Amino acid sequence: TVLTDTKGPAIPKAMWGIFFEDINFSADGGLYAELIKNRSFEFTKPLMGWKEITANGGAGNTLIINRGEANANNPRFARITVKTQAGAYGLANEGFRGMGLLKDKKYNFSILARKQSGNLKIRIEAIGVDNKLIGKAELNNFTGEWAKYTASFICTATDAKAHLNVYFEGPGTVDVDMASLFPQDTYKGRPNGLRADLAEKLAALKPGFMRFPGGCIVEGRDLANRYQWKKTVGDIGDRELIINRWNTEFANRSAPDYFQSYGLGFFEYFQLAEDIGAEPLPILNCGMACQYNTGEVVPLDQIDPFIQDALDLVEFANGATSTKWGGLRAAMGHPKPFNLKMMGVGNEQWDEQYLDRYKLFAKTLKAKYPGIKLITSSGPSPEGKRFDYLHAELTKEKADFLDEHYYQAPEWFMNNASRYDNYDRKGPKIFAGEYAAHIKDTKNNDAEYKNTWISALAEAAFMTGLERNADVVQMASYAPLLAHVDAWQWRPDLIWFDNLRSVGTPNYYVQQLYSTNKGTHVIPIKMNGNIIAGKDSLYSSASIDADMHQLIIKIVNTSAKAQAVEFDLQGKVKPKKTYSLVTLSSADKFTYNTLDAPTKISPVQRSGNIASGKILSNLEPMSVNVFRVSLG
Ligand code: AHR
Repeated sequence: TVLTDTKGPAIPKAMWGIFFEDINFSADGGLYAELIKNRSFEFTKPLMGWKEITANGGAGNTLIINRGEANANNPRFARITVKTQAGAYGLANEGFRGMGLLKDKKYNFSILARKQSGNLKIRIEAIGVDNKLIGKAELNNFTGEWAKYTASFICTATDAKAHLNVYFEGPGTVDVDMASLFPQDTYKGRPNGLRADLAEKLAALKPGFMRFPGGCIVEGRDLANRYQWKKTVGDIGDRELIINRWNTEFANRSAPDYFQSYGLGFFEYFQLAEDIGAEPLPILNCGMACQYNTGEVVPLDQIDPFIQDALDLVEFANGATSTKWGGLRAAMGHPKPFNLKMMGVGNEQWDEQYLDRYKLFAKTLKAKYPGIKLITSSGPSPEGKRFDYLHAELTKEKADFLDEHYYQAPEWFMNNASRYDNYDRKGPKIFAGEYAAHIKDTKNNDAEYKNTWISALAEAAFMTGLERNADVVQMASYAPLLAHVDAWQWRPDLIWFDNLRSVGTPNYYVQQLYSTNKGTHVIPIKMNGNIIAGKDSLYSSASIDADMHQLIIKIVNTSAKAQAVEFDLQGKVKPKKTYSLVTLSSADKFTYNTLDAPTKISPVQRSGNIASGKILSNLEPMSVNVFRVSLG
């Protein structure tokens, strides 16, 4: 293989990013560190996640009161009455498939309360799976006005499946709402913050952009339940909860308790993107609900509020603090702009209905904010009539970016490594906004798609084609990002977690390898005069990192045999004497990482010598390899 030039297309800084959607308990029960489920009693069944409890002969009752319009965003609260002098009555919260608590760590409980009569005391108890008390705290002296009360405890044992008892000791009556338990150690120590291990795994990907909040949840199962960013900002008690689009009743994916509290809302998404150095990429509803569900659309003459939401979002992200929405951003703690440069109009929409609505969005948004790039849907499939139609029409519309999604078999990814080699260079840029290779583990007779090595290998092969065509494909993100092992609806996913641990899949390590070895511009690498995209089961792309003055070669060997390769730098670049090599490989294509065995497939570092401007290497069977060479 030969390097034929030293300069090709620039690789955008934002090339490799992440796709965040609240699916598989990614937000509530996952990245969002709140441990109490249904904290404000707003789930369809108000006591879902809660259970009445008594201790030492205590007795009482819970009445759910709905304030309706008086508090439209958070109408319900619980009125707790304890009838007995002795003992206690209360509610136990089960958490999100249990609560993950860590020994010696501090946990902060808070609750809104208002006394009705008597002098109730609240006693909270963290209880481990073996029924042992592992943390406790007390609250009392409630007044007759709503106020927030807080108490903390240090946990005495680690437990992945704990629960929280909230006991009331009376007699008396008290109103409560927004019961909350957070670890003190959230990501960057923020109140209302994020689970540190998960946020750190995202940061370690060094993503160029962060797409949020989805996915199908942007669309909602119907328009009433679409994602509306304005409902997700401001005080957390004023954020109106909705049913999650992924609230399902499939046999092993059942999640009737899946709602969106919006504790992780648009402010927090922008903040996270900033924290991890990613460009924010919000996707907004375009006036269409999920076409796989109700397929509801808003009439074209009633679309203005949807477009206004997009305009106001730019003001929220970038506007002066003297503006309405810029002022809210400042009040939430971020006076500086978030520097929003792009947004998506609709998720996976298709047909004329989409085109008609996109045109109205584009007309208004481009007139007011010509600098904001718009990302358009190209439907759910990477090929077929629907896809061709939208591609052709959106090209005519001179759309900035088309969002292509591919959930396909590994073979599709390998066969499509040249997909963009002949794409129209003058048409819209491509955002590969969701992709993952889907394959069942036939070896182990597993009916579910898993994050097997073959899926990651196929993605790596395909991604060489994305990088080689970085002038067309300017952004790409694997999807979905996160999944709770006990509460998923869709697989495969990039990162799996339980209530305490998380594991990067082989696919995660592929994403990380590409994003941390990106380079600043592509350089052509050829084998017998041809690009390397499948011949002899090899796939390759090369780049120069002008900032680090290094040459980077990525080469994927999808065959089950080792392959000797020789990279001839042909005097095009002047290498120093050694190279470094990072390899991901496995002889078993069905291997995957688990929480108990998290590094079965993980990067292995090596180094070697360069002689006469040549690198000789024996590529392992089924391997992804990244060579780095410092240039003289
Ligand atoms: O990533 C899971 C889902 O796949 C997304 O919500 C949707 O956009 C796509 O169909």
